[in-house]
Amino acid sequence: MSTPTLKRKEELKKQIERLCKDKNALILAHYYQEDEIQDIAHFIGDSLELSRKAASTDADIIVFCGVHFMAETAKILSPEKTVLIPDIEAGCSLADECPEDEFKSFLHSNPDHFVISYINCTAAVKAQSDLICTSSNAVELVNKIPKNKKIIFAPDKNLGKWVESKSGREMKLWEGSCIVHESFSEESLIKLKIKYPNAKVLAHPECQQNLLDHADFIGSTSKLLTYSQENESTEFIVLTEPGIIYQMKKDMPQKIFLEVPNIDGCSCNKCPYMRLNTIEKVIDCLNNMSPKIIMEEEIRKKALKPIQRMLEMSN
Ligand code: 13P
Ligand code: SF4
Repeated sequence: MSTPTLKRKEELKKQIERLCKDKNALILAHYYQEDEIQDIAHFIGDSLELSRKAASTDADIIVFCGVHFMAETAKILSPEKTVLIPDIEAGCSLADECPEDEFKSFLHSNPDHFVISYINCTAAVKAQSDLICTSSNAVELVNKIPKNKKIIFAPDKNLGKWVESKSGREMKLWEGSCIVHESFSEESLIKLKIKYPNAKVLAHPECQQNLLDHADFIGSTSKLLTYSQENESTEFIVLTEPGIIYQMKKDMPQKIFLEVPNIDGCSCNKCPYMRLNTIEKVIDCLNNMSPKIIMEEEIRKKALKPIQRMLEMSN
């Protein structure tokens, strides 16, 4: 790394530290954020851990370096706090593919179901759900629902199918998917497995079944990181957004972590929404106190119930 780049990074870091101290702000970041954002975050985690942190912090301001549904969840849990997001356009294909009106009609045509929504959805969809889950607790929570209840699971069909296979419960699935996790190439994965026969394959459950079939371990971003720390293997093929590989390499420089190319043949599996946030935008949002998450109180209160239920039910 050149000296001017290092110098610039240090300057930006100092600026952010000063702003956070002056404003009593906490920076939360998801593992799919740019490396330099991960480096300045006060806390990095998966969706569940980030929700817990947002609910428990005594900071006045939360700068949520992640996507919109994550920042929205922080606001639902901590309405008295100002929740900033560096780029308000940082959305998610799963949330986009589940519009609130269509979801409402779907629930009407499938009455008497217990509605579980993956946290990757809008507040308006959460408000229509009985329980929220994340990739880290989805199986655990579905297993806790009485066997006589019919379940709707939205919006990720791939996560839903994986939960069905782990829990043995059949569910009515919404047809959404993640554009990042759906684009890994199975052919490239097989080639990597042949080249690195001792490597363990780690996968996020948003991947399609044909990819999950190759996995030695499936879990949320944090669980993938923990597995790679605890497993004695020195080579890992990682089927999720490569932002997590930054933490893996940082923590375990002696181990090898490999990205899987996507179906177009390139290793460009970065989430286009997550990567809209930049370190400059973190500084701008702290200076301008904008963009901030704003939500109707009625929706917030309705969305809070299934999130609180998740936090109470999951270990
Ligand atoms: P995690 O909860 O595993 O961090 O996943 C969030 C996400 O958006 C994965 O694409
Ligand atoms: Fe949404 Fe997929 Fe990006 Fe995660 S990786 S935020 S599920 S689009």
